[in-house]
Amino acid sequence: MEHFLSLADLTPDELRRLLAQALELKAEWKAGGNRPILKGKTLGLLFQKPSLRTRVSFEMGMIHLGGQALYLSPFEIQLGKRESVPDVARVLSRYVDGIMARVFAHSDILTLAEYSSVPVINGLSDYNHPCQGLADFLTIIENKGVDLTGRKLAFIGDGNNVATSLLFGATLLGMDFTIAGPPGYELPADVWAQGERFAAISGSHITATYDPHAAVAEADVIYTDVWASMGQEDEAEERARIFLPYQVNEDLVAEAKPDVIVMHCLPAHRGQEITDGVCDGPHSVLWDQAENRMHAQKAILARLLA
Ligand code: CP
Ligand code: NVA
Repeated sequence: MEHFLSLADLTPDELRRLLAQALELKAEWKAGGNRPILKGKTLGLLFQKPSLRTRVSFEMGMIHLGGQALYLSPFEIQLGKRESVPDVARVLSRYVDGIMARVFAHSDILTLAEYSSVPVINGLSDYNHPCQGLADFLTIIENKGVDLTGRKLAFIGDGNNVATSLLFGATLLGMDFTIAGPPGYELPADVWAQGERFAAISGSHITATYDPHAAVAEADVIYTDVWASMGQEDEAEERARIFLPYQVNEDLVAEAKPDVIVMHCLPAHRGQEITDGVCDGPHSVLWDQAENRMHAQKAILARLLA
């Protein structure tokens, strides 16, 4: 049984193949539409948290490929509350051909995968966001080319789920990766150790700093995300103070390479981690990046369900 739970589960070749397939499916779609390779297939979309991009891009992706998706809101299944996670997996996988789940605890994704008889796709957990990561590297190779050797991604902000998937993707693909955030908000040690193992094979250079200016120097890509993720709302005020020096604004972007692209997984808290001027400015690729969620996920669906 094959699932899509973390970019770290992929080999560099598997990741490259998924990206190549995403590019093909995107070109096919732009040229008039995709072939119905998922005709008759169904995908359950199980959400414990809100979503715009993940929900809509998966639903539209399934429609484009000839299949159907079923949205299950946080109030419907109530994963682990109304029913145990293994029982949800056992039952839901009798009805659908694949399950996409967005959860709080990553352990719930692992349990779903363990007890499901159909492929499980991680649509974000507290640990990582691999669908986002795949779309992000699709966006990066569209802008910087497929060979990312010597290219530098600077992540400015919280060492969170999105940063984790970016570290894995960069180090699998041989791209340099730097993260800058305040003390106490670094990437988890096991995540960093995994990044180091991949980097030793691919030749990526990875560094962590508390200095956002050092991080963006010579950067080809600047990436940021919210300072308080879903589930951390009660820390939002404190984090807004602590992360203030890490705002991606026009001055910081001007310190990177002249052709730097700026990325954000969205939703953005404009005026906090990123300014209006950067979101809507000449370096922003935010809307292409959001669109690419759909193309990247079609490649995942094609691989797991076709
Ligand atoms: N980037 C992302 O996953 O967006 P949503 O939370 O809207 O799905
Ligand atoms: N780090 C954010 C990403 C949202 C797409 C969160 O987990 O809320």
